[in-house]
Amino acid sequence: MTKRIFSFLYVYPIISREERYMIDRARSIAISSGKGGTGKTTLTANLGIALSNEGHDVTILDGDLAMANLGIIMGVDNPPVNFLDVLKENAEAEDALYEDYGVKVVPTGFRFEEVHETLSDIDSNRVENVIEELLRQTEFLLIDVPAGMTDTTIISIAAAREMIPITNPNYSSLVDTYKTVKLANVVDTWTRGLVVNRVGRSSDLERGEIEDFFWPVSKFGSHHFGNS
Ligand SMILES: Nc1ncnc2c1ncn2[C@@H]1O[C@H](COP(=O)(O)OP(=O)(O)O)[C@@H](O)[C@H]1O
Ligand SMILES: [Mg+2]
Repeated sequence: MTKRIFSFLYVYPIISREERYMIDRARSIAISSGKGGTGKTTLTANLGIALSNEGHDVTILDGDLAMANLGIIMGVDNPPVNFLDVLKENAEAEDALYEDYGVKVVPTGFRFEEVHETLSDIDSNRVENVIEELLRQTEFLLIDVPAGMTDTTIISIAAAREMIPITNPNYSSLVDTYKTVKLANVVDTWTRGLVVNRVGRSSDLERGEIEDFFWPVSKFGSHHFGNS
């Protein structure tokens, strides 16, 4: 089912049974954290490539409209069509798909004027429609979510069914990631674990301390994605 947070009525576009099947079986996963620099983009790219190496059909979307860099990391340089063009309805989602490392990438443009214009007028319905369009042609859709609690953060997390938060092993990073998990609960997106990145310094929190901290909001119980 498509979720709605900003309106209560949603009419599905008329689509075939096969397309409906693809959308329902595809998994949409938001990769999020409270702060920037925790490793969201790195995890999105690496998880995408790892799933592709396992034989899955994977699409990764740069939802970080203000600080886009997933395309660059994936080697998609200066693409003629990007996610902003799709959001502005100047192109279809399939026109913004580029394949590299066995993964389909939807990059975002970073011309300041274009980003500013899109961010100031972002339409959650359009984002959801684009995500549905992408889910018709893939098995996994990973969304690189912007840090913070911006409109784009909320829309990207709400548009996915599942979320993998990523944090660094210190309290300030944990507190901000905790807020993201709370947000996911509110918009009914299922938190599927927690990635703790950049582990190894003596000042780092222990795994038990991190689990205790997250316990009050966690819906993920004892399932962990492990450290990286
Ligand atoms: N486990 C790690 N070890 C070393 N460097 C890392 C690790 N994870 C991320 N980085 C580096 O940290 C920087 C920020 O990561 P990035 O994925 O861009 O974060 P975010 O998307 O959350 O802002 C990048 O230069 C990235 O290469
Ligand atoms: Mg990033």
